[in-house]
Amino acid sequence: MQTKILHFLKKATNYISGEEISDNLKISRQGLWKHIETLRESGYDILAVPHLGYKLVSSPDRLFPSEIKPNLKTKYIGKKIYYFESLPSTMDTAMQLGLKGAEEGTLVLAETQSHGRGRMGRPWVSPKYKGIYLSLILRPQIPPQQLSILTLLAAVSAVETVNEVFGQEAKIKWPNDILLNGKKLGGILTEINAEVDQMRFVVIGIGININNDKKSLLPQATSLKEERGESFNRISLLQKILKSIEDNYESFKTKGNDFIIDKWRASNVTLGKRVKVNLHHVLLEGQAVGIDSDGALLLRKDSGITQRVTSGDITLSR
Ligand code: BTN
Repeated sequence: MQTKILHFLKKATNYISGEEISDNLKISRQGLWKHIETLRESGYDILAVPHLGYKLVSSPDRLFPSEIKPNLKTKYIGKKIYYFESLPSTMDTAMQLGLKGAEEGTLVLAETQSHGRGRMGRPWVSPKYKGIYLSLILRPQIPPQQLSILTLLAAVSAVETVNEVFGQEAKIKWPNDILLNGKKLGGILTEINAEVDQMRFVVIGIGININNDKKSLLPQATSLKEERGESFNRISLLQKILKSIEDNYESFKTKGNDFIIDKWRASNVTLGKRVKVNLHHVLLEGQAVGIDSDGALLLRKDSGITQRVTSGDITLSR
């Protein structure tokens, strides 16, 4: 009901009478007032003036589903949204929903995470109301070995969105670090529920630093606000990322891995560079000469042997 009331308030350019809203929604004036109060408690600034009615002055900077859905141009991604003020990690909640049969495209959002996690067991710092922390459930018909492609797909989608909104070339460091001006703006974490040769579902986690201030960022990290000196609208950015993921995912289903790999190549900063690869306890060094059609990095070591690297962390040497 509150979403419907907001729809009327947003549509009106000025005051809208309580009578008009309550008649349309078939609720009492008293009932309407109660909903207005609840909306105010959620942070909506709504004026109420006798004989004039209600006027929406401002909406809170929150990723409420009621804010995201109206302008979301997707067919299925984000059509079902689970929103939380705080979670340990959106990954765990999405995994649980996936196990209960949540449909493809189901989205879990949190305004902050107490135990947000990144790749290789690292924490993901998730200050409240500053970034986008999401987990998305997909149910692709691909073998588990091709999981990396979905990670690259998410990285490509995030980069395309940042470039559109920010007007500057964000880049990808293999496999999925999103860089802006050489610093880390975001990352992707993919987790899977699968049998040996069949994927049941995948959870794609995306974290992007949007309005973080310097003090809440790790030394090598940045945010859109830090780079531009102004705040960004998290809602429209999120809507665009979801649309970009859906478009790329649909193209991937019809055109295959190369569609994603080609886009990834166009935005990457890794290929052609000398890199160090940290494989948990093993350190490899060599030239990043390519990625294969499953998204694995091809590393030409100094011995001349090319090794296929499917996970790990890289540092660019030169
Ligand atoms: C990385 O670069 O290491 C990946 C970072 C992924 C962070 C996101 S934030 C939303 C989702 N929930 C988590 O706990 N992690 C991912």
